[in-house]
Amino acid sequence: MTSQYAPMIVTIDGPAGAGKSTAARELARRLGFEYLDTGAMYRAVTWLCLEGRLDLTDHACVAETARRAEFDFREGRVFANGQDVSDAIRTIRVTEESRFVAANTLVRELLVELQRQIAGGRDFVTEGRDQGTIAFPGAECKFFLTADPRERARRRQAELRSRGEEVDLDTLVEQIEGRDRRDAERKVGALRPADDAVVIDTSSLDCETLLAELERLVRCRRREAGLETPAESP
Ligand code: DC
Repeated sequence: MTSQYAPMIVTIDGPAGAGKSTAARELARRLGFEYLDTGAMYRAVTWLCLEGRLDLTDHACVAETARRAEFDFREGRVFANGQDVSDAIRTIRVTEESRFVAANTLVRELLVELQRQIAGGRDFVTEGRDQGTIAFPGAECKFFLTADPRERARRRQAELRSRGEEVDLDTLVEQIEGRDRRDAERKVGALRPADDAVVIDTSSLDCETLLAELERLVRCRRREAGLETPAESP
């Protein structure tokens, strides 16, 4: 078979705390692909609405804010209407309130369209909840990462602790289970693995083992498709 080069989309979906972000960012770096954090988009819309003191349950108003907004993703930073919001979108408040934006059908349509424009015709690793099911159903390689809720709560606790915040484990387990339920029950873009996704439980996997497996599977898929593979990572 003649080798040819064609752009490839790798999707990584899964619940909060399953290790998607670290895995997606690092996998993209190893493959020489670009990386898209779609959760940051929902967070940026949430932040804009909170800044504008909008009622997050007012669907039309929130969708209009999303429609008018300009987003930019450069060098690992997130910009909304020209302002660097990379840190502001990671607060507990934005995390909690983002569920209203995530349940907004109009916003989802807009953001999925934007995700397709950004990733179109290029090598991308995209990360979120609906990447393999809705945004890129034809993606060449799909992963769904999961992990035990208690383990995810432990990871979240360590992350918060590194930022000087102390939250008790049971509270975090409760929050995580609540988010899982809302993500799974959402009428649009619900969290579920695509039929052709590789499902990986990361509860007892260290980061390096997970990454090595993801990279191996992507390169294997490219070879099967007769596509050129970028150089192996060191
Ligand atoms: O992955 P995260 O915690 O940064 O996601 C932030 C919010 O956006 C969370 O409420 C889930 C939602 N989300 C979504 O509904 N669809 C996506 N593709 C990505 C995130």
